[in-house]
Amino acid sequence: MSRSPIGSAWVLGSTSAVAIAICQALARQGCRRFHLIARNPIANQALASELRERFGAEVTMEQVDLLAANQQPPYLGQPFDLYLITAGSLGDPDQARIQAAEAQAITAANYTSLIPWLTAIVTPERIQTPGCLWVFSSVAADRGRPSNYHYGAAKAGLLRFCEGLLLRCHGTPFAVRILKPGFMATPMTVGKAPPLLCAQPEQIARDLLRRPHRRGIEYIPWWWAPLMLLIRLLPPALAAKL
Ligand SMILES: NC(=O)c1ccc[n+]([C@@H]2O[C@H](COP(=O)([O-])OP(=O)(O)OC[C@H]3O[C@@H](n4cnc5c(N)ncnc54)[C@H](OP(=O)(O)O)[C@@H]3O)[C@@H](O)[C@H]2O)c1
Repeated sequence: MSRSPIGSAWVLGSTSAVAIAICQALARQGCRRFHLIARNPIANQALASELRERFGAEVTMEQVDLLAANQQPPYLGQPFDLYLITAGSLGDPDQARIQAAEAQAITAANYTSLIPWLTAIVTPERIQTPGCLWVFSSVAADRGRPSNYHYGAAKAGLLRFCEGLLLRCHGTPFAVRILKPGFMATPMTVGKAPPLLCAQPEQIARDLLRRPHRRGIEYIPWWWAPLMLLIRLLPPALAAKL
């Protein structure tokens, strides 16, 4: 397994608050090559400019909407030390209950549209060389909740798919790390999560970069592990209120 610092990063969902914090932390540690993939080119440009101007990084950009019809097969080009996937969307859970198109859009944004990218990253050749893949699933993958079961099911699908990749890469120099955040203080949770329970993206970035070559499935912050154990054990009458 590689123990060298992360010198290059490829990011899908680079306008996400946690991806921005990770890129800034990586740049502070000396990462000097980034490929930033996002739906919003203006927000993506803002991060690219910061990485170039503050840190002298070499940055390329790509625009991708995971929900667009007729997407081209991904082309990844030169290898990177870190592949980071943070793209994801809560969608509109109320609409998804009554309209299959929204249910499918949530499934696509969080799982099925990521499959071509994951397939392009985890190739037989790449996993013979040192590298890392970090994928953001969610604690929502642990149990179906009345309030957002489409999102939870999609994140659970993503998690199981990536667990297969993780085990496929066991014994190779390529490390797969599946992250299950609880609440993070990002645009995704505004007005939806108690601020006291929300971790700051900068703290998440610092924690993740403490052990950049770690592989496995982990809750972030760690204390979501015992909390989710309790939640998984709740009887249906209580779980129905979540
Ligand atoms: N925040 C939380 O409490 C929390 C908890 C558990 C898991 N997570 C997961 O952590 C990851 C990072 O989330 P975050 O909190 O940093 O949220 P965020 O700031 O809302 O970021 C979500 C990212 O996904 C991108 N995205 C959404 N739909 C897309 C599409 N159709 N095509 C391309 N990109 C798309 C967004 O792009 P735009 O900027 O164009 O919208 C944005 O870059 C996500 O996978 C999320 O599901 C978050």
